[in-house]
Amino acid sequence: MSARNAPIVAPVPAPAPAPAPASPTSTSELFDSLLKSTTDLFKGSREILRESYLPSRLPHRENQIRQVAEVLAPALKGELPSNLLIYGKIGTGKTAVVQQVRQEFSRRPELPKKLTFISVNCGNIDTPYSLLQTIGNALALAENDRIPTGWSLDRVQASVRGLMDGRAGTLILILDEIDRLVARSGDGLLYTLSQLNTELESARLCLVGISNDLKFTNNLDARVRSRLNEEKILFPPYGAQQLEDILKDRAREVFRDGVVDPGVIERCAAYAALENGDARRALALLRLAAEMAERDRSKRISVDHVVKAKSRLELDIIVECCRTLPSHCKVLLYAILQAYERRRGAVATGEIYEGYCRLCQRLGLQPLHARSISNYLSELENLGLIRATIVSRGRGGRTREILVEVPIAETMPALAEDPLLATLARPRGLNQTILTNFDNPNRAS
Ligand SMILES: Nc1ncnc2c1ncn2[C@@H]1O[C@H](COP(=O)(O)OP(=O)(O)OP(=O)(O)O)[C@@H](O)[C@H]1O
Ligand SMILES: [Mg+2]
Repeated sequence: MSARNAPIVAPVPAPAPAPAPASPTSTSELFDSLLKSTTDLFKGSREILRESYLPSRLPHRENQIRQVAEVLAPALKGELPSNLLIYGKIGTGKTAVVQQVRQEFSRRPELPKKLTFISVNCGNIDTPYSLLQTIGNALALAENDRIPTGWSLDRVQASVRGLMDGRAGTLILILDEIDRLVARSGDGLLYTLSQLNTELESARLCLVGISNDLKFTNNLDARVRSRLNEEKILFPPYGAQQLEDILKDRAREVFRDGVVDPGVIERCAAYAALENGDARRALALLRLAAEMAERDRSKRISVDHVVKAKSRLELDIIVECCRTLPSHCKVLLYAILQAYERRRGAVATGEIYEGYCRLCQRLGLQPLHARSISNYLSELENLGLIRATIVSRGRGGRTREILVEVPIAETMPALAEDPLLATLARPRGLNQTILTNFDNPNRAS
């Protein structure tokens, strides 16, 4: 998840500001001191600790790399590999392994000319249309071939088929976070994609689905399930010792010798092992601990910095998770936050849908149907961003009400960063008016 679908952990107070350093007298001195402090700890680019960095080796994933490579290897001989489903909890290296195998393929001398990889992250895609559009645009070689918005779904499908045949040969379509696509829009598009080989003329399609929901195939149409499930690979969570090995590799690459105190790596690994064995979490903790140390103008990263980093990360994860929602889900969450602020408490789902439609109108968007919004509400609840309760209204029956579990002040601006929502951005200072559940230390967790 990306932090996108990390389980949200217990709330934490906003981190205390870093102690003010002795103030430099001029802006240029300020920059001198900031630059100096950053070179004390790091010898390599700090990007090495970021999620997007793909290290040259992935300790404890040798088996999975071999298994993925074995399934896809026929493509190197111009044959069609079996479809593949990769399962495993968040941060278990699924995306990294597939990326690494893909890179390795492209380095092979025997790589056939007619082998095309397309990777799509379904996590931030709203509709079957936008998924097909993304696939088509990845294949389009000329500006004219790109798929605009506003076509019928049939026309987009025909165009994608044409673009695939135009490439010819083997196409390996990697659908990362495939479970989120199915949760949002059902398995109709997967059905279409999984039977495309009966319609394609000069191309052949292999599907690689990646999911962190281990049970997601249970709800698939039986035909889709059996086509996708030709091969399956499970990624187990990392244990604390394995996470230590992963962190030590990165620490060697990025930090100067001797700046990491004993116990720092172990503590990051232990925290992340408790969070489902998530390597992303372990790396983020180490990166934040280093940033905390820099802010303290410390020459070493200590266990205390890891403890501070842990609190900070919990808040960051929530905000990051909101940033990576699909646009309509962001509009929905924005409507919830607005209504929650106005009501100073729980909001009925009907009122939320009305608020969402009003916001869509303001933003020039076509509102999604109430059913899709209900799916999005469940998704937001699964992410821990909201909580639904059933309230009994005596004779009026029972209604479903929504409570907010995120800090409004940080979340609203993060949502408004989406260009589609930009006109909703409010001047600074107007965001926080009430305590949310998140802010309330007495809230039931
Ligand atoms: N064995 C490993 N060695 C080094 N780094 C790793 C390893 N496994 C994962 N990572 C790193 O941890 C982070 C998370 O890994 P990745 O994105 O592959 O997880 P994922 O299983 O796809 O998670 P999600 O289900 O949330 O998408 C990435 O930065 C990745 O480089
Ligand atoms: Mg992934």
